[in-house]
Amino acid sequence: VTYVRNAWYVAAWSHELARNQLFGVRVLNEPIVLWRDDAGVVAAFEDRCVHRLAPLSLGRCEGNRLRCMYHGLLYDRAGTVVEIPGQERSTANLSLRKFPTAERFGWIWLFMGDADAAREEMLPPLLGLEQDDYTLGSGQLEYAAEARLVHDNLLDLSHVSFLHEKTFRMTDVWARERPTVTEFARSVRSERWIENQGVVGSLSDSTRVDTYFSYEVFVPGVLLMTVRSYPVGTASTLDRHHPAPGERLLEFTSQAVTPLTPKTARYFYIMGEQPRRGTTSYDLTNTERAFAEDKAMIEAQQSNIDLTPGYRFRATTADRGVVAYNRLVSRLIGLETGGRQDASGGVSQVNL
Ligand code: FES
Ligand SMILES: [Fe+2]
Repeated sequence: VTYVRNAWYVAAWSHELARNQLFGVRVLNEPIVLWRDDAGVVAAFEDRCVHRLAPLSLGRCEGNRLRCMYHGLLYDRAGTVVEIPGQERSTANLSLRKFPTAERFGWIWLFMGDADAAREEMLPPLLGLEQDDYTLGSGQLEYAAEARLVHDNLLDLSHVSFLHEKTFRMTDVWARERPTVTEFARSVRSERWIENQGVVGSLSDSTRVDTYFSYEVFVPGVLLMTVRSYPVGTASTLDRHHPAPGERLLEFTSQAVTPLTPKTARYFYIMGEQPRRGTTSYDLTNTERAFAEDKAMIEAQQSNIDLTPGYRFRATTADRGVVAYNRLVSRLIGLETGGRQDASGGVSQVNL
């Protein structure tokens, strides 16, 4: 087992699902149909008709009912079969597994574990598409790799100096600065000052600032990164402690990496930058070039992993966040399964 089930996973964009529409997705290798009703409320069910497993995402909405378009079984919003064509008595005990849903930040979220454990407070505290005081941009990528490798990538941003040498131009100052890593109940946060440098993104190269970066990865693989810039000298004035929370927020990005199948993942991203510039959207050109660098490297890493069964990664100093997060995931999986997890559950790390 590699992933926590009692957690909210991003399954789709809110705008992908209009009223009275069905949308088939896959999360943790489970086929799921999203269904938005007349009133705009989203429900989610396993995407398999109880009759002969035809996908219900190929069905049709009939008001607040969903009809399987193979042999016509009709379901209500609880997922219960309410009509079987040609059969007098319908069988009330036939029903679909229903997944708790939430809609926040521009995303539709699914709770993949025990439905009774689902609470909205477990959604990560992100910034998203509601943030209309920002210039926003968004997109998604399909990965031919395990989601956990992308999670690890987001937890260790020392790769920015090398893999994104040409796109983010951070020099190796970035890789050498050790972030402060803090472990929380369901996340791991890394924070660091970068002093007297140009800023990633929109500011021109000649602008020198002290920048405070915070990036936090929440279970089950959701990132919030915030970027705050200050006049040069601020970091040393603060003795490199963190600045007042929330102040001078310049840029954020929220990203979610959802495992679709064991070796595929969908990467959802939202970028926001202040100030808002009318109807202009965030210029994603550079970001998407960098994301393509990550994708090429991680997919190539995946094929080597596939050729090297049983290999245990070596962890470096820069992996502190990675190790802490994977330990947290193992612990949560252990609590869910009620058993003890050994380190070989797909999240193994050997510390150097
Ligand atoms: S498979 Fe759905 S009605 Fe037959
Ligand atoms: Fe990257």
